[in-house]
Amino acid sequence: MKLLILAANGQIARIVEERILTEDKFKDVDLVLLLRRASRLQSLKDRYPDRVTLVVAVT
Ligand SMILES: NC(=O)c1ccc[n+]([C@@H]2O[C@H](COP(=O)([O-])OP(=O)(O)OC[C@H]3O[C@@H](n4cnc5c(N)ncnc54)[C@H](OP(=O)(O)O)[C@@H]3O)[C@@H](O)[C@H]2O)c1
Repeated sequence: MKLLILAANGQIARIVEERILTEDKFKDVDLVLLLRRASRLQSLKDRYPDRVTLVVAVT
């Protein structure tokens, strides 16, 4: 399953993302993360390259 999170660098969003990527019950969930500056979540992409897709939001 793919889960889209908007404003993915927000405080609450980052807590959710960390839980999804580390907890076994969410192991089948991949993340599509939309944010204005993708570099802010590059470390997450580096840790989970197969499960995280970063999308730049144009505002
Ligand atoms: N934290 C709480 O305890 C709490 C409690 C109740 C309700 N809420 C509500 O829940 C929401 C998220 O809270 P939070 O604490 O996680 O907020 P936050 O850390 O301030 O994150 C908000 C996110 O929204 C993005 N954003 C703001 N304006 C934007 C725009 N014009 N276009 C695109 N993206 C935009 C920011 O993106 P960038 O990273 O690109 O700047 C940021 O990542 C807020 O609406 C808040 O009012 C929070």
